[in-house]
Amino acid sequence: MEIKDLSLYTTINSRTEKTVTAEINGNMATAPSGASAGSHEASAFVPEKIEDIENELKELFVGKDMSQLEFDQALREYDGSEKLDKIGSVGIALSLAYKQASGFEKSNKFPYPIGNAVGGGEHGGNTAIQEFLVLPVEAKTFKEAVEINSKIYREFKERYASKILGMNDEGALVTRMDDEETLEKLCKVADKHGARVGLDVAANEIWDEEKEKYVYKAMGMELSPKQQLKFMEKIIDEYNLVYVEDPFHEDDYEMHKKLTIETGDLIVGDDLFVTNKKRLQTGIEEGSCNSLIVKPNQVGLVTDTYETVEKAKKNDYIPVISHRSGETCDTSISSMALEKEIPIIKAGIADIRIAKLNKLLLEWDKMERNNLKPEMAELGL
Ligand code: PGA
Ligand code: ZN
Repeated sequence: MEIKDLSLYTTINSRTEKTVTAEINGNMATAPSGASAGSHEASAFVPEKIEDIENELKELFVGKDMSQLEFDQALREYDGSEKLDKIGSVGIALSLAYKQASGFEKSNKFPYPIGNAVGGGEHGGNTAIQEFLVLPVEAKTFKEAVEINSKIYREFKERYASKILGMNDEGALVTRMDDEETLEKLCKVADKHGARVGLDVAANEIWDEEKEKYVYKAMGMELSPKQQLKFMEKIIDEYNLVYVEDPFHEDDYEMHKKLTIETGDLIVGDDLFVTNKKRLQTGIEEGSCNSLIVKPNQVGLVTDTYETVEKAKKNDYIPVISHRSGETCDTSISSMALEKEIPIIKAGIADIRIAKLNKLLLEWDKMERNNLKPEMAELGL
């Protein structure tokens, strides 16, 4: 694709923090940002001299005809570091804007939306566990899947109104309940609607390096890694959990491996892999997890993101494409899910998150109208 024009803008995300919007040939994309970001992630910040960077990149790219791979390689070379330390969020914003401009392929396989219904941890809330998620495993269409998640969210909110305090960074409900009470109550509501419950423990955030323990404040509980393993096994069993993300801290391949072997569940690496193919390779060799979170801004560029998705698929790891807690109405990850036939998308239930769900609802509807027979991806559960 020929790059005719390129611009960078400073905008804001759902947390009102500054972020970067990039425009290529009239197509825009905006960088998200995390609150529980892993230490192995690519850099995410708005560079101070963004106008200078814009001018230099215009010089470098405008008038050139290049592929996404060449564009991303040239961007990385311009930055000069593995983690994009010079350009920060400009990297993913531009790489996604290039992708938006060159276009997405559309398969007819739609992802299941896994939605954050109740939250805590770094996103705000009383539970140590960051996300209590619902996965509408029995949905036959994307519309039905979204409806199920919405119903669970609304019913939970109404039924336990006296215990609900508000919404957190991801539009998830904040309650007075502790971790186990939340699980018990959410499972009841999810069950009624044919959905299963999952967790993002985001264990990195509750890991106390000095004590070498996972700290659950609301439950007054401190667990060693071995006790954490037992606790995870217990709640997976008791609540028939379908999905557990980051049950241990970001460098504990060993414990992730043990939990993967012990349970038939989706054990999902987020901070563990940070969408990085080298870290995923270590996981594959060790047998840690059987699924991974895919967040384009964790690794920094679209090409790297897709390489990691390919590697995951080849090795039977289920990719789960995901929003960040700091978001905008950017719908790139919805289009990426369709393009790469990614079977699960984690994009919230309410709030600004609906932009990503609506994109897929519209795509489903359009395909149906054109007799292109959209269907839900194979979950293989
Ligand atoms: P983050 O959280 O975007 O704040 O890092 C999301 C997640 O951990 O999945
Ligand atoms: Zn996570």
